[in-house]
Amino acid sequence: MSERVAVVIGGASGIGAACVDALRDDGCRVVVADLPGTPCDVDVDVTDEAQVAALFDGVVEREGRLDVVVNSAGTSTLSLVVDHDAADFRRVVDVNLTGGFLVLKHAGRVLGEGGSVVSLTSLNARQPGTGMAAYCSAKAGLAMLTQVAALELGPRGIRVNAISPGLVVTPLTAPAMDIAGIEDDYLANTPLGRSGTPQEVAEAVVYISRAAWLTGEVLDLNGGAHLMRYPDLVGHVTRAFS
Ligand SMILES: NC(=O)c1ccc[n+]([C@@H]2O[C@H](COP(=O)([O-])OP(=O)(O)OC[C@H]3O[C@@H](n4cnc5c(N)ncnc54)[C@H](O)[C@@H]3O)[C@@H](O)[C@H]2O)c1
Repeated sequence: MSERVAVVIGGASGIGAACVDALRDDGCRVVVADLPGTPCDVDVDVTDEAQVAALFDGVVEREGRLDVVVNSAGTSTLSLVVDHDAADFRRVVDVNLTGGFLVLKHAGRVLGEGGSVVSLTSLNARQPGTGMAAYCSAKAGLAMLTQVAALELGPRGIRVNAISPGLVVTPLTAPAMDIAGIEDDYLANTPLGRSGTPQEVAEAVVYISRAAWLTGEVLDLNGGAHLMRYPDLVGHVTRAFS
C-alpha cells in the first residue's frame, strides 16, 4: 500500500499533536490543521464550513489521496446553567459539535473505500459535570453524530469512530489542575488511579485508523473513570476562591 495520507485537525496542541507524531510513526503523511497563529500546515476554523470544505479539497488536490481524518479540535467553558452566557454556550457547541459535523460532512464527501474518521469526544459525553453544560451537551451530541455518520457512510466503506478520553493533562486541562482538589477528586474516582497521556490517546487513534472492521464505536479510554463519578468542578472552584 502506498503511503497513507492523514489530516489531524486541532493537531497543533495536546492530544492532536500526539496523534500527528503517532500517525507519522505509523507511516502516514500527515497534514496538520489548526487555528491561525498555531504551528500547523493549514489554517482552519472547524466552525467555518467554507474553510473545512477547502481543507479537504486542498489535501486531496495536493496529496492525491486522503485516508485518515482525526478531529481533535475542542474547547470548553465553566458556568452553571442558570448563569450561562448564551453566546458562550453556542460557541462551545459550535466548535465541539457543529465543527464535528462539518468535518464529517466534508471528509465524508472526499474519503473513499477504506477511509477512517476519528473524532475526540469525552468522558463528559456520558458523565455530567457541574458547570460543564455546554461541553457535556456538545460531546454527547458528537458521540451520537459519530454513530449516525457510521450508519450512513458504512455502505461506502468509510468508518466513523470516536474516542472519549478521561483526564489528559494538556493546555486545555492544565488550568483546572491548579485548582485545589480537582485532580485528587478525579483520580480518586478513577479505578486505575491516574490520568492518561496524549500518547495513550494517540495509540488508540492509530489502532482505530487500521481497524478495518470497527465502525460506530465510541471508545471509553479513561482508566475506568466512566464506572465512577465526575468531580464537582463548580464545588471545587467555589471552595478554592471563597
Ligand atoms: N485533555 C483532556 O483531558 C480531554 C479529555 C476528553 C476530551 N478531550 C478532547 O480532546 C480534544 C483535544 O483536546 P486537548 O486536551 O488536546 O486540547 P488542546 O487545547 O491542547 O488542543 C485543542 C486544539 O484544538 C484547536 N482548536 C480549538 N478550536 C478550534 C477551531 N474552532 N478550529 C480548529 N481548531 C481548533 C486548538 O487550537 C488546539 O490546538 C478536544 O476535542 C477535547 O475536548 C480532551
